[in-house]
Amino acid sequence: MKVDFLWGGAVAANQIEGAWREGGKGISTADCMTRGSLTQKRVYTDGVLPGFEYPSHEASDFYHHYKDDIRLLGEMGFKCFRMSIAWTRIFPQGDEEQPNEQGLAFYDSVFDECLKWGIQPVVTLSHFEMPYNLVKKYGSWLNRKTIDFFIRYCETVFKRYRNKVKYWLTFNEINFMSFHPETGSGLRDLTKPQVYQAVHHMLVASAKVVHLGHMINPSFQIGMMMAYPLSYPENCRPENVLQQMRDMDVHYYYADVQVRGAYSSKAKKFWKRESAAPVMENEDPKILREGCVDFIGFSYYQTNVSSVEKNRARAEGNMTGGIRNPYLQKSEWGWQIDPVGLRIALNTLYDRYQKPLFIVENGLGANDVLEKDGSVHDPYRIDYLRAHIEQIKLAVEEDGVDLMGYTPWGCIDLVSAGTGEMKKRYGFIYVDKNDDGTGTMERYPKDSYYWYKKVIASNGEVLE
Ligand code: BG6
Repeated sequence: MKVDFLWGGAVAANQIEGAWREGGKGISTADCMTRGSLTQKRVYTDGVLPGFEYPSHEASDFYHHYKDDIRLLGEMGFKCFRMSIAWTRIFPQGDEEQPNEQGLAFYDSVFDECLKWGIQPVVTLSHFEMPYNLVKKYGSWLNRKTIDFFIRYCETVFKRYRNKVKYWLTFNEINFMSFHPETGSGLRDLTKPQVYQAVHHMLVASAKVVHLGHMINPSFQIGMMMAYPLSYPENCRPENVLQQMRDMDVHYYYADVQVRGAYSSKAKKFWKRESAAPVMENEDPKILREGCVDFIGFSYYQTNVSSVEKNRARAEGNMTGGIRNPYLQKSEWGWQIDPVGLRIALNTLYDRYQKPLFIVENGLGANDVLEKDGSVHDPYRIDYLRAHIEQIKLAVEEDGVDLMGYTPWGCIDLVSAGTGEMKKRYGFIYVDKNDDGTGTMERYPKDSYYWYKKVIASNGEVLE
């Protein structure tokens, strides 16, 4: 791997910070998401209501533990740490003229701590949350005004952290953001035209932010972030191959705009077929053209199968499930594990866009056990990550893919976005916090912590 390869891990503010009302923070959409489970969906409530459990309110309490947490990451040898800024710490209601200094000071301290350990922050500007007030008062991304509020927030943090943060991502998993309540847009039950409209506003916002960031600091590297649920045709029946192409087109819709600066001709056909063309301003094509990203960040957890056949067995997955693939094992939460698929994903994305790639999420959610002596034995996680890193190396060294870094998801245990559970753990670092609210919040390095430390130290050579 390149000498400056960014080995690290990833988290998101609403899933790790807690302290939902401290430091002047406002209520975010993520604060209104109840706890769920594999069988019970999370609910987005109309504000924070009595009688519901909201896991983001305390989460892993990174807000009060960040120094120790970053020290543990530093001791593991992290080169980078992907995290997000909670918009509501900076603009609590979203529509204020002036930012909240306490929120800005908090992230100053977090970034200083990272830099002290030689860790580059990789910062997501919007990870599955936004000010609840913007949803209530303005209608979230359906309203073009939200673009201006977002720009004001981004301009504030770009200027404040221009010498501390080089790597930025605009919207986390933008291809899921507008459809699923757990992704924080606060929008539900949208019609097709509304989906395209909300997405258009987000794409314009993203492009404006990229352009602005480059003006503020030309050395900023600003990426997009999509979930990449690669799909395979069920077999060589041409209709299934066509279906696979159609299933992937849904995801390229976003990346095409963010990387190439314009909607594809196919996107325009979608609008026509569905009578759903978004309303655009005259300047929008120019904005999109001028706001192309520097790199493509993506999450990769599992693959799916595409088929026109009915009644296929189903599998769970990241936001969307899919058809069961008989060749793959599944995680405890039913996600299909496919390391080779990651090599295919890297090749496909690189062939299509010819832009540097960054795997900003990958990992295994599992129910870990904290032993009496403070150890956590997670060989399944080591196996999962090893198999994926092997494929990454093949993609880079054999296939020539340009890859900037790798940040496995939830490097410190945190709240699951999909289910709201703590027990679905991804971390190298165990957080003693249970779904029933018990636990000491103490941190314990798992076996995978020591394993990944060796991986980083050897730049991916030692995987045993
Ligand atoms: C991605 C998100 O969808 O997958 C993360 O960007 C999320 O926020 C991760 O946590 C894993 O999903 P889950 O549902 O297991 O938390």
